[in-house]
Amino acid sequence: MYKQLIRPILFWFDPEEVHHFSFSFIKFIAKIPLVPALLKSVYEVKDSRLEREVFGLKFKNPVGLAAGFDKDAKCYQELSNFGFGFIEIGTLTPKPQDGNPKKRLFRLKEDSAIINRMGFNNGGVDAAVLRLMNNKGVLIGGNIGKNKLTENEKATSDYLICFDTLFDYVDYFVVNVSSPNTPNLRALQDKEPLTALLQTLQNQNLAKPKQKPILLKIAPDLTEEQLLDIIAIVNETKIAGVIATNTTISRNNLQSENKTETGGLSGKPLTKRSTEVIRFLSEKSNKAFPIIGVGGIHSADDAIEKLEAGASLIQLYTGFIYEGPQLVKEINKKILENSL
Ligand code: FNR
Repeated sequence: MYKQLIRPILFWFDPEEVHHFSFSFIKFIAKIPLVPALLKSVYEVKDSRLEREVFGLKFKNPVGLAAGFDKDAKCYQELSNFGFGFIEIGTLTPKPQDGNPKKRLFRLKEDSAIINRMGFNNGGVDAAVLRLMNNKGVLIGGNIGKNKLTENEKATSDYLICFDTLFDYVDYFVVNVSSPNTPNLRALQDKEPLTALLQTLQNQNLAKPKQKPILLKIAPDLTEEQLLDIIAIVNETKIAGVIATNTTISRNNLQSENKTETGGLSGKPLTKRSTEVIRFLSEKSNKAFPIIGVGGIHSADDAIEKLEAGASLIQLYTGFIYEGPQLVKEINKKILENSL
């Protein structure tokens, strides 16, 4: 029903407008008695064989919603009704910021893809905390970044502000240095600044009475040499794991008219590369740390491939938009069929 009826209507309108409308709609219907339970009964696959313990956290299933969808933690409770095992909010920055001028989100229909140059539009970390205070049992990842106007030399303090402010309200952290839409952000992926940033956050973490897992989210555009550096840095700083991958700046074999837009490309054109990155990290590190696999998962088979390449958990974004909420259920069912 989603692909035949709902998606064609939604795709008639501007993607960012549709995003806001969908949030309002999902929040509205979730207020109707019995609807949350009904949605769960349709989309949730409940089975103890889906449960995962990864970096010390218990996930009811390994399929999560990727960062950027619910940046401001406005809808995580309602989105969890679609059967996700966890939801990553953010990227959040210390201060609210508007992001890039509109239009900044483009569908590439012929390629089952999206290009976005949102630029960390978000209401700031304090506003998100107020919403997270009402969380009723959703496992939440907190994806953190820096404000656009903060120079890279001072970026660490932005990440620390987000880390401290969110600490009591999220289950794990994601350090995002891989968005292509904040000028110069990805320079923080270089060995020296990245080690310093992660070590500072890890020291802050160790000073707390109980630690939270910190993960690093990386770009799919890193070279093998850079990926080997990432493995060394994760091992050195002893952070909990890696999320692979963010959107790509590469543009290969695209058909859609929007293909020349600037920004990060996600969806089907990313499937193969993000799986390659997962496999490389998993093999070269001897599975030293858990990996959350994300990038172009549009079918249950895509998800299985990511898990077989070495991911412990997976996340969806573009596939959720193109395939609909049914995809979460299909993946969980296939995981059970394959006894993964
Ligand atoms: C994203 N993504 C993203 N990632 C992140 O770490 N912080 C963010 O704020 C955002 N924002 C964002 C906005 C939009 C519109 C899209 C499409 C994506 C990246 C996302 O979490 C994911 O890593 C990639 O999109 C690859 O997965 P999919 O979309 O191919 O399943």
